[in-house]
Amino acid sequence: MTAGKPAYYVTTPIYYVNDAPHIGHAYTTLACDVLARFKRLDGYQVHFLTGTDEHGQKVEKSAEAAGIDPQAFTDKVSQNFRDLSGLLNFSNDDFIRTTEERHKRSCQALWQKLVEAGDIYLGSYAGWYAVRDEAYYAESELEDGEDGKKIAPSGAECEWVEEESYFFRLSAWGERLLKLYEEQPDFILPASRRNEVISFVKGGLKDLSISRTTFGWGIPVPDAPGHIMYVWLDALTNYITAVGYPDAESENFKTFWPADVHMVGKDILRFHAVYWPAFLMAAGVPTPKRVFAHGWWTNEGEKMSKTLRNALVPAELVETYGLDQLRYFLLREVPFGNDGDFSRSAMVGRMNYDLANQFGNLAQRVLSMIAKNCGGQLPQPGDLDADDEAMLDQATGLLQDLRKELDVQQFHIALTKTWEVVSAANRYIDHAAPWKLKKSDPARMATVLYVLADTIRQLAILCQPVMPDAMEKMLDQLAVDTAERDFAALQTRLTPGTALPAPEGIFPRFIEEEA
Ligand code: MSP
Repeated sequence: MTAGKPAYYVTTPIYYVNDAPHIGHAYTTLACDVLARFKRLDGYQVHFLTGTDEHGQKVEKSAEAAGIDPQAFTDKVSQNFRDLSGLLNFSNDDFIRTTEERHKRSCQALWQKLVEAGDIYLGSYAGWYAVRDEAYYAESELEDGEDGKKIAPSGAECEWVEEESYFFRLSAWGERLLKLYEEQPDFILPASRRNEVISFVKGGLKDLSISRTTFGWGIPVPDAPGHIMYVWLDALTNYITAVGYPDAESENFKTFWPADVHMVGKDILRFHAVYWPAFLMAAGVPTPKRVFAHGWWTNEGEKMSKTLRNALVPAELVETYGLDQLRYFLLREVPFGNDGDFSRSAMVGRMNYDLANQFGNLAQRVLSMIAKNCGGQLPQPGDLDADDEAMLDQATGLLQDLRKELDVQQFHIALTKTWEVVSAANRYIDHAAPWKLKKSDPARMATVLYVLADTIRQLAILCQPVMPDAMEKMLDQLAVDTAERDFAALQTRLTPGTALPAPEGIFPRFIEEEA
């Protein structure tokens, strides 16, 4: 079935299970879901991975606080992230947990490769560690907080750690990393983030402590009793575990590795763009093609935090605004890569204007005119004039634009370009005024409605990755066969004479309740 199809592998970060899923987590996975759905419709064999990061001190502490052992704790809370996929209609092909046996085997094999390469040595670490970030910091990076506390640039509190530890010879990989960034200019996107990483690496890399001995919740280092792996080495390895590592000869590994995109938030770019490729190069495994760092969401201008209790909860947003409305908003509102603010007014604006007025209304007008004036069947078009051709060409040309934008993860531009076609269709209907042609020129009315119906079909096919449910309804209303909904079907046209079901509105307006 899949033979001959090009492969596409996209990953989300794996989420720490100590936190309940909020809109930030949903955002990263949503972006990947749209890429995965788009590529599937475009004829690719896709592997879309998400999952949970379950080891380390932070999770161990949360389990302790909950009064249960870490395994039982992670079994329970990992489910919240699985449920998120159902709630937000994510189409991931796999869900990995770092506590799975396949992952332990993969991490230990990678470790062994790093040992064989001479990139691991035993030493001792004395320095600062932030449990919240699961990251080491140099003294020079820290600020003084209250009561003599040391605070990391992320705001996380640091503690002093002194213990025997294995180190990865990261210092030896600086030049090769810089060469990677130069040879693959799109390895890190957006470009501003790429520059930050390059200056960080040019500033000189220190060897990285990659094992811990003062707690036990992690993957044992092979042949080193008492040592467990640093949680970031463990976590990053999930991306190769899921495609079959260490079995580099497996069909899956050969098909999907190296990954096309690791999608991450800006806070975890360094781990993905510096440590991860260094580990892989040292182990002789190819490096991924792209790491894209997106920005952070705030809620009505405020940073989301536990103390403020203002985290945006995906289930509540879906309940209030609707699933596809939320998916559209998150990707349309903010240039992908920038920080963004979630405000009720912006959300309602997009929902009522872009979706209900511009797109929903267009479909509703066309479908109800067909229902009333064409006996509920797709009309037979006559000869197309220049306006008709221009309308259909504009819709057909959209696929190329979307491919180009989504290849560099510019969702907001892809949607802006899509809405240019929606606007053009609204201008076309207003100008052609089919409602005036009913008596005077029914043949022309039939042509106009046919052109519009086919334009809507094309828009609906192309919008499926962002709004799968709503577009399914729209395509049902146009009686498009389920086998004719991929991008190859954009080359065809609707069949005149097809009976259509009774039209129904797809994008309701949001009405503010009276206080
Ligand atoms: N476990 C690590 C990732 C390991 S990947 C090998 C981790 N987990 S996390 O749960 O803390 O964060 C996961 C993702 O959620 C990150 O990409 C982070 O940027 C994203 N977000 C967390 N809060 C966010 C916002 N407020 N806005 C947007 N994304 C945010 O880091």
